[in-house]
Amino acid sequence: MSPRALMRGLFDGLDGACARAFGEAWNPMYQLGALGWFLFWIVTVSGVYLYIFFDTGITGTYESIEAITHAQWWAGGIMRSLHRYASDAMVVVAVVHLLREFARDRMRGNHWFAWLTGVPLLGFIYVCGITGYWLVWDTLAQYVALTSSELLDALPLFGEPIARNFVNQAALSDRFFTLMVLIHIAAPLLMLLVMWIHISRHARARVNPARGLGVVVLGALTLLSLLHPALSQPPADLDIVPATVGLDWFYLPAYPLAALWGEGAVWALLLGSGLLLALLPWLPPRRTPRAAVVDLPNCNGCARCFADCPFGAITLGPRDDGLAYEQQAVVDPGQCMSCGLCVGACPTATPFRTAGELQAGIELPGHPLAGLRERIRQAAETLSGDSRLMVFRCGHGATVASAPGSVAVLELPCVGMLPPSFVDYVIARRLADGVMFAGCGRGDCHFRLGDRWVEERIAGERDPWLRERVPRERVAVSWAGGAERAQRRADVARFRETLAGLPPLVRGGLRQLAAATRFAPVTWPAPVRWAGIAVALALFTVPLGVWDNWPAWRQLASGQAVVRLSFSHASRPKVECKPLTPQELAALKPNMRRQVGCPRERWPIEVELERDGELLYTGEHRPAGLWDDGPATVYARFDVPAGPQSLTVRMRDSGRAEGFDYERTETVDLVPEQNLVIGFDTLEGLVIR
Ligand code: HEM
Ligand code: SF4
Ligand code: SF4
Repeated sequence: MSPRALMRGLFDGLDGACARAFGEAWNPMYQLGALGWFLFWIVTVSGVYLYIFFDTGITGTYESIEAITHAQWWAGGIMRSLHRYASDAMVVVAVVHLLREFARDRMRGNHWFAWLTGVPLLGFIYVCGITGYWLVWDTLAQYVALTSSELLDALPLFGEPIARNFVNQAALSDRFFTLMVLIHIAAPLLMLLVMWIHISRHARARVNPARGLGVVVLGALTLLSLLHPALSQPPADLDIVPATVGLDWFYLPAYPLAALWGEGAVWALLLGSGLLLALLPWLPPRRTPRAAVVDLPNCNGCARCFADCPFGAITLGPRDDGLAYEQQAVVDPGQCMSCGLCVGACPTATPFRTAGELQAGIELPGHPLAGLRERIRQAAETLSGDSRLMVFRCGHGATVASAPGSVAVLELPCVGMLPPSFVDYVIARRLADGVMFAGCGRGDCHFRLGDRWVEERIAGERDPWLRERVPRERVAVSWAGGAERAQRRADVARFRETLAGLPPLVRGGLRQLAAATRFAPVTWPAPVRWAGIAVALALFTVPLGVWDNWPAWRQLASGQAVVRLSFSHASRPKVECKPLTPQELAALKPNMRRQVGCPRERWPIEVELERDGELLYTGEHRPAGLWDDGPATVYARFDVPAGPQSLTVRMRDSGRAEGFDYERTETVDLVPEQNLVIGFDTLEGLVIR
């Protein structure tokens, strides 16, 4: 079994269990994308509230958040917790949504667009979350600030290591912090734009979950916020390195990896998996079903296909074949998912036609309607008795077993592809006693809208209708996801029973428009269902409250302290400035002639660090700038045992062959978790403090 098939099976099981507990309208598995939107709005509203009371200067930040959390726990405190837990929930929902789309293979062919635009959404979620933790300015924020900077410094993006902004209290400035506040506000706005692009090819995209589901999810998050409010860790103090920090494992799992594997390996993993994710739609095995094709002589430009296409693949263009209609359907093969819903919508798709070949205004290559009519006739010949059932099923929901002589099953890409006139045809010609549409779970059509269009067409709420003359008790719908086989079996059995009990069909009898027969969904009794909902919500929310800061990450072994080398220094120029000789001046172009010749290039600096006579570090650092004329920067971190020790640092900045230009030795008594920084000052030279 392929990994995808295994995942498909797992998701089918989960979908089925949720359908029984939540009922089909509330099934969260059917509306993960919409739940993502809902959580986004919770995060936005709570974020706006927090921002009103938030002090954006780094010195007042921590206190302002403490005040929000404790002084107004009944409002600000809940908002803060909702902000955090809904953000964590968004990671969970987006990842499950991604896996489910993968398991259902809704990423290949023209589905690539939603998939590819989903990948940066994941990135946006992480940028928002990480910058959010930064803003609290507690010890976790301190860890996030330094580790994020060290990760970013591993990329060749910045001229000077940004980690130096957070190296100790003295180096700290508002500058970087304000940037974080800006990013934390701008990133969600950009994310909203990408969320909109993500669903832009979906007609009637579902961006709101069922109201009841929204209420219980918000209720569960609020309850979690009350029982287990989100709190800050101790305030940041860059002069110490807290040995342990409570990490949000939804947002920060890559950070400990940076310590274990190194920044380069973490980037390789992140960028590699991002790239793989983005390329998945094009990796083998590739399948590209053929797009719907318009047959102009049969198209009258009625626009029904345009209205029903779930993927916005049809537009209406000016007529170009000289027929006396105003417009014609035009399919964009780059957007068509080959679902066939347009075929089901086309009024010219009628099997009663005797003149000429059966050909509709729009058809799916590989699934011609003429062939379908033929298959129906052949299937009818295999049926006998008084409850002959003809089932039209898609390949995505629970299977239907054909029973020789009594149940004939015909497969279509989507049940919404069957034009209502075909149902009329089967019943009117007595090819079967009843017709059943057997599709995916209700509200979870693989092609998004098939179940809805089928029900509306039968009920006379949507063109083209199923004619009044077709008795609705002979037409049934059965919506059941892959694992809901019991539901399917029950639907088929109950429908056959109904058919067997019906009086013989009378031709010409006056009928009324009505909905198709739909048997009650197989669910659990109400108390069991509510218990199931409670368990599902607990399984969803409790981990949010636990893994948002547990288990704590030990970033420093006990009894250790940290020594950082952090400075920026302009070394001496390689060639000292000297007056040019008259000959040298004459050799220059007139506009380049200056009295003093100063090549800009500087020496690299060489640095050594010794601890108790043992070499901890030696490194050469190039000057910045295209011409090697800027200052060279040194940033390195060492975990050392606490206690008294002698540190010696040396620097050569003049390119000399031997010896050093600067040297300092100091005996320090480091306490555990202390952060000691070795810097450089133009007046004092190397400093250890
Ligand atoms: C915040 C994150 C996300 C939100 C809010 C979101 C939202 C949505 C929504 C509302 C839909 C349309 C559902 C419908 O009406 O049928 C959708 C579909 C989809 N999304 Fe997402 N999504 C997110 C992340 C992702 C990610 C990370 C991926 C994968 C990389 C992804 C892949 C897809 C795919 C493949 C579809 C269905 C496309 C189809 O039917 O052709 N989404 N998403
Ligand atoms: S087959 Fe489906 S996606 Fe393609 S044009 Fe018809 S309705 Fe739209
Ligand atoms: S539904 Fe049929 S007739 Fe109407 S515009 Fe589409 S292809 Fe043409």
